[in-house]
Amino acid sequence: MTTRELQDLIIEEKKKRDVCILAHAYQSHDIWEVADFVGDSYGLSVQAAKATQKNVIMCGVRFMAETVKLLSPDKNVLLSNPLAGCPMAQQVSREKVLQLRNQYPDHLVVAYINTTTDMKRAVDVVVTSSSAVQIIKNLPDKNILFIPDCNLGDWVAKQCPDKNFQFIQGGCPTHMSVSAKTVEEARKLHPHALFAVHPECIKEVVEKADYIGSTTGIMNFCKKSEAKEFIIGTEQSIVQHLQIECPDKNFYALSNALVCHNMKMTTLSDVYNSIIGKERAVITLPDETISEARKCIDRMIELGG
Ligand code: 13P
Ligand code: SF4
Repeated sequence: MTTRELQDLIIEEKKKRDVCILAHAYQSHDIWEVADFVGDSYGLSVQAAKATQKNVIMCGVRFMAETVKLLSPDKNVLLSNPLAGCPMAQQVSREKVLQLRNQYPDHLVVAYINTTTDMKRAVDVVVTSSSAVQIIKNLPDKNILFIPDCNLGDWVAKQCPDKNFQFIQGGCPTHMSVSAKTVEEARKLHPHALFAVHPECIKEVVEKADYIGSTTGIMNFCKKSEAKEFIIGTEQSIVQHLQIECPDKNFYALSNALVCHNMKMTTLSDVYNSIIGKERAVITLPDETISEARKCIDRMIELGG
């Protein structure tokens, strides 16, 4: 069967079975083409709350599917590849957050959305890369304990100088693998290119960028810019999507190391098998967990506008 034939089958089956397909921007282009919504983590959360279908299939990683379940507990939520997880989400446990709360009793606990559901039960608000600055500025609290991504935290802190931040060590292993030297080499190779980066990269890399933002932010920046060449400092799939969507421009990956193997796990066949119920990674969460963990996500959506 060709990719096109499989895509047609997916589109036919999803209508018949009342399925909404949500895909994170790091998914492959053949998945983008069958999805009802493609976006960054914030966009996916907002869309998850709005979806009218009875069944939602998340093409991404586990915390994203669990976020959908938290926002729409009555829906049947599936993760298209049950093995796809985010290594950063495992870096801080709920127990660790409770211990940090004792250590910093006068700090509000703000967590990146890339965390487990269990941990979300213990934090005050979650943020994404595209919503973090606005949400933290909107918070009345001055003292912020930001977990687990200290690189994203550092970028946010620079834009919120009137707040006091505490961080713990953590971050995305994919984005953290790139050094400032790699940026210098890429700039030498492509002297006319603008450099767009994700704030999960280390601060020495982020400091060298012409644009800093989420996956959707990077894509919008490149599409709207008058420039013709771009170095992309995030997962390599974004280079491919941009090249397809803007054939008159040139996009270069900052580094071949910028590959998230978890995001790459999901295939078009996984999506089809999830729809027809062949491989069902159904997300189930206890009611009590849902009511505790969704508070920090509701707060994000409320503060994020
Ligand atoms: P955003 O799509 O929100 O920028 O997040 C990037 C990421 O690494 C998701 O796991
Ligand atoms: Fe997690 Fe990084 Fe992969 Fe995003 S890119 S899913 S933060 S490991």
